[in-house]
Amino acid sequence: MKKRVTAVLLAAGQGTRMKSATQKVLHPLCGRPMISYSLEAACMASTEKPVVVIGNGGDAVRQFLGDAARLVVQDPPLGTGHAVLQTEPLLRGHTDYVVVSYADMPLLRGETLRRLVKAQQENPGPLTILTVISGDSRGFGRVLRTTDGNVQAIVEEATATPEQLKITELNVGAYCFRADWLWDALNRIPLSKKGEYYLTDTVELAARDRLPVCAIVTEDLDEAIGINTRIHLAEASAAMYRRVNRALMLAGVTLVDPATTYIEPGVVVGQDTVIWPNTYLRGRTVIGRRCEIGPNTFIEDSVVGDEVIIRVSVLEGAQVEDEVTIGPFAHLRSGAHLCRGVHMGNFGEVKNSTLGPGSKMGHFSYLGDAIVGANVNIGAGTITCNFDGRRKHSTEIGEGAFIGSDTLLVAPVKVGKGAKTGAGAVVTRDVEANTLVVGAPARMLRRLDEEEDERADG
Ligand code: UD1
Ligand code: CA
Repeated sequence: MKKRVTAVLLAAGQGTRMKSATQKVLHPLCGRPMISYSLEAACMASTEKPVVVIGNGGDAVRQFLGDAARLVVQDPPLGTGHAVLQTEPLLRGHTDYVVVSYADMPLLRGETLRRLVKAQQENPGPLTILTVISGDSRGFGRVLRTTDGNVQAIVEEATATPEQLKITELNVGAYCFRADWLWDALNRIPLSKKGEYYLTDTVELAARDRLPVCAIVTEDLDEAIGINTRIHLAEASAAMYRRVNRALMLAGVTLVDPATTYIEPGVVVGQDTVIWPNTYLRGRTVIGRRCEIGPNTFIEDSVVGDEVIIRVSVLEGAQVEDEVTIGPFAHLRSGAHLCRGVHMGNFGEVKNSTLGPGSKMGHFSYLGDAIVGANVNIGAGTITCNFDGRRKHSTEIGEGAFIGSDTLLVAPVKVGKGAKTGAGAVVTRDVEANTLVVGAPARMLRRLDEEEDERADG
């Protein structure tokens, strides 16, 4: 029968070293609360719904997790061993393995936890731990081995002897236990001098019973970054961005300067796209192939097609089709939709509006709540006056229209296909197709189609 593996994630510690009103595990890391990373990794190793141990006052954590995990409260927090013990009533008899990790270790990979579980399933002993070899101890527990290499104990830095402090094999903080051994072992953990029950002491309990403790080593030092202070938070964030950048470069994306390129996990970037320095790609953003993005560009929750050029601009909740050019200094807000081949130049803002294929909006314009057809020219300084102080109103501009420089379109208003507005027009009434309007408020000057007919006749 398939063995049941249950992930237990510890998040009940106070996180006092963060000096924050926000719970440590809810601090954002590359755009998401740090616990979401460790939960994702835990889920990958778990065959059952994971269990998160929260503390008294963990309401915000509870709210964030919703039904993504089963919650157990540890109050008061008496150490990591005591935290796992709180899951006994829920899990005893209901799982074959328990894989424990800490919610403040967002870089630990799900694959690594899986490796840990696999190693334990082949281990005749009761537990497997994850270690890392590093000269920089970072306050981690040290892994003690006998001369023939068997894992003997983990000593916390605070209680280690000077000799033990020199040990470079460190406890990462991820463990897989055989459940039928775990619960009794937890009850046997001695109280530490600090008044806590350390989960790490289970190693010594097993070794003393002459049961083999297996240790697997991770090569990736970043995986072991635990967050106790905001300095660690910054380190973890840099490491996470490095990880994302490396994966993208290996997948065919050029990053001109990875050190100043901030791409959140989950963002998709297509092959042969070039990203210039100081660019931020955030949230649910998808960028197509062969684009040029940046420098100095911020894109959040936006979908960008292929062969798009975006320079020095901000996009939030926007949709941009293929072969669009944007910037410098453009701002696309939620609901902005630029169809294929649109050009949006400097100092433009588009909100909740669609610009049809091939339309151009070169300079200093605001479009809000507007639907613009194909091949429209939006002259410099065009403004949709969409807000009357109480409500928003919409503007429609038909295909092929030409909006003269500095036109004010007082919504609700429609400009018909092929119509033109003169420079400085204040358009308060609908403009018929193929007419030219001028003035403030704009009045009809002449019919354009007749003029064209005349020209054709002449
Ligand atoms: C722990 C390990 C240490 C390891 C290091 C790696 C122990 C005793 N020590 O030390 O060997 O090298 O992680 O980062 O485990 N927590 C609870 N309830 C508690 C106490 C802690 O849920 O009563 C949770 C915390 O929220 C945190 C995790 O357990 O997510 C680890 O606790 P923390 O105090 O950060 O342990 P470290 O001192 O970092
Ligand atoms: Ca920690």
